[in-house]
Amino acid sequence: MNDKITRKMSETTSKRKKEHIELCLTDKVAFIEKSNGFDKYEFSHYAITEIEIEKIKLSAKFFNKVIDFPFLISCMTGGTMEAENINALLAVVANNLNIALGVGSQRQALENDTHHNSYKIIRKNAPKIPILGNIGAAQILSAKAEDKIKYLAELIEADAFVIHVNPLQELLQKNGEPNFKGFLKSLERICNKVSLPIIVKEVGAGINRKAAKKLLEAGVKGIDVAGAGGTSWAGVEILRNKDERGIEFWDWGIPTADCISEVKKLKNHFDFMLIGSGGINNGMDAAKALALGSDVVASARIILQCLDQSGIAGVEKLILSWFDTVKKVMYLTNSRSLNQLRKNGLQEIRK
Ligand SMILES: Cc1cc2nc3c(=O)[nH]c(=O)nc-3n(C[C@H](O)[C@H](O)[C@H](O)COP(=O)(O)O)c2cc1C
Repeated sequence: MNDKITRKMSETTSKRKKEHIELCLTDKVAFIEKSNGFDKYEFSHYAITEIEIEKIKLSAKFFNKVIDFPFLISCMTGGTMEAENINALLAVVANNLNIALGVGSQRQALENDTHHNSYKIIRKNAPKIPILGNIGAAQILSAKAEDKIKYLAELIEADAFVIHVNPLQELLQKNGEPNFKGFLKSLERICNKVSLPIIVKEVGAGINRKAAKKLLEAGVKGIDVAGAGGTSWAGVEILRNKDERGIEFWDWGIPTADCISEVKKLKNHFDFMLIGSGGINNGMDAAKALALGSDVVASARIILQCLDQSGIAGVEKLILSWFDTVKKVMYLTNSRSLNQLRKNGLQEIRK
């Protein structure tokens, strides 16, 4: 490929990422009618709790590391000037709280090294936490995709690597690549050849049990359901296109709560990390996602918005307040540990 074309491609990737950030700083891109599904559930209040709230520990395993809260700042950005600053700040938050952090798609880093620092800054600012690399499904279809992943993982000293599947977004994106033929085969090869744990995530339309089973059979070690009810990536692309075509897909997807309860059932047969995300926008959502069976919960857009409005201190305060809510829920349901919270469970609200 000649230099000029590479530069042009890279500019397009950076521009797209920049527009995504700008739109996601607004609430215009939320689902319209569909919820994340947690409103169907409530906790069973336990009037004679004997839990000592100050003794509750929320630390959790994240592959080979231990994090202080079962929380991941979802993959968002990289590959633009703006991204470097955002990632630098998110890394400080994640490092201070000892939680996990994902980088946004590293596709741009494959095109040239102009914005490599926008990814590398994360490990620089967060030496010890679990960091996740990221690339889209469309980029792993070629032969030797495992080499790309190894290269990208090394760039950020990743602990695990995320492959995002986003068929709806690709379908609606101008110049999208809605063709994942050969995906599972490629994924299986990558899982065999890359020593890091591979996680597959959606971006807001959810992963059902059937798809999750195929992913686990291919060898993935983590599934992030990224279900419906939070950020609508159909919405983001429709707004970018300034064209209402595709609007009937704005609310497309499986609510996050339904994804978690479906995919959790596979824990009887496979050993994997279940990440609950997609519209986790407050502590009660986080508590319900954990109680339904998530090992870790994750959020994207609300964190970005909070960072923009209130900086590092604001995001830290937000995440700590969510886990304060989780502890209160545990106290009120007589749950000493997250495992007990999962057992004491949620009940579906009868209508
Ligand atoms: C600004 C922005 C950029 C994103 N970029 C990526 C990305 O590069 N790779 C990815 O896997 N997911 C990406 N996502 C999707 C999120 O990781 C997440 O799955 C999705 O937004 C749903 O979570 P939410 O409802 O908490 O926003 C992005 C999200 C936001 C808000």
